[in-house]
Amino acid sequence: MALIEVKNVTKIFGSNPKAALKRYREGLSKEELLAQTGHTLGLSDVSLSITRGEIFVVMGLSGSGKSTLIRHFNRLIDPTDGQILVDGTDVLKMSSRELGRFRRTTMSMVFQRFGLMPHRTVLQNVGYGLAVRGMKKSEREDRARHWVGVVGLSGYENQYPTQLSGGMQQRVGLARALATDAEILLMDEAFSALDPLIRSQMQDQLIELQAELGKTIVFITHDLDEALRIGDHIAILKDGKLSQVGTPPEILLTPADDYVAEFVRDVNRARVLTVDTVMKPPKARLTGENIERALEEMRRLGEQYGYVVDNDRYRGVTSQERLAELLTEKGATHNLYTVAEEGPTLLADAALEVALPTALDTAYPLPVLDESGKLMGVVSSREMSSVLTPPKAANEDATDEKSDPPESPKAAAQ
Ligand SMILES: Nc1ncnc2c1ncn2[C@@H]1O[C@H](COP(=O)(O)OP(=O)(O)O)[C@@H](O)[C@H]1O
Ligand SMILES: [Mg+2]
Repeated sequence: MALIEVKNVTKIFGSNPKAALKRYREGLSKEELLAQTGHTLGLSDVSLSITRGEIFVVMGLSGSGKSTLIRHFNRLIDPTDGQILVDGTDVLKMSSRELGRFRRTTMSMVFQRFGLMPHRTVLQNVGYGLAVRGMKKSEREDRARHWVGVVGLSGYENQYPTQLSGGMQQRVGLARALATDAEILLMDEAFSALDPLIRSQMQDQLIELQAELGKTIVFITHDLDEALRIGDHIAILKDGKLSQVGTPPEILLTPADDYVAEFVRDVNRARVLTVDTVMKPPKARLTGENIERALEEMRRLGEQYGYVVDNDRYRGVTSQERLAELLTEKGATHNLYTVAEEGPTLLADAALEVALPTALDTAYPLPVLDESGKLMGVVSSREMSSVLTPPKAANEDATDEKSDPPESPKAAAQ
């Protein structure tokens, strides 16, 4: 169920947004709106929903409306038009008392510049939100100490922010947000100021924490690699408009427009896409011990290879040729489970980069298993390779040569 629901939200900044909204609806562009009315379009008719317990990434270039969008969630910004529901409650209808409570308990924010108080220790910074809520000193110190430990900063409790590296300061910011016990974490470019190595460690830690704590995390970034790495869903904003919302494979495999296609063009697809995004159901899925029946089944389906399963568990692969040969042996009785050959298998969440060499080395589509050994599907090296070249955006001219960027003189002359 959706935890945060954004319905047709438009935001216009300026002195008379309602009048400017009317002009915008009459067809002005963002630039024209600014030139003619002095109002800035922040968001235009954005609708999306965020599921409880997911990492939802908002991505886009600077000025695309990312911060504006998430500031609506805790009502640091009110929409010019539209509706925001959090856990079914219309945040615009909250009384100021309800809103105060909501801000203290439901959401907490982690900022790019850490937002730590320089004259307070790590422990005091982490416990700050709890102090505001009136929690007793000993209790909040215990709680703060716990979260300092969770983010890996035990031993630094009494240091001041300036004594810490950027990565450590951001861990303090994270611990402070976690300590409030808020269900929703809003992270606005929280890792953007960090060095690449520290940043990727923080990404790992965030994914782990999310899995452990089940928080709903709304994470803003302008970095696609970061978005693909941590996002369950990614929303892509352009000039205040939503270009696309999708899972990382959806964004990579079917970009909705040129803007998204441009973003994903240089992504290392083999590293991001996993086997389960390209696998198919096995055509010949064989059960039971009878090899005669299995052979009949494969012949009926016209499949050279068959995948043997026993109560969903993968037992191995076999071929028409092999079974036919076994059936010619006089007097012998064979059991399909014992004649199936285990052979190489792939894990469903393996990156194509890792899986491709094995697939290239195998004559038949490889079985794909989950952690428990259940057969999820099969995949061939051909299917893997076919998704490794970026597709064209839906509205790109199919006759365009890939090597001709639209701005090249040759393409422009066509
Ligand atoms: N308080 C404000 N007053 C006027 N314009 C604003 C304000 N906040 C944001 N904007 C404008 O709204 C647009 C979206 O900004 P923002 O949400 O900050 O983008 P992002 O976070 O993606 O960089 C930009 O054109 C920005 O200049
Ligand atoms: Mg921003």
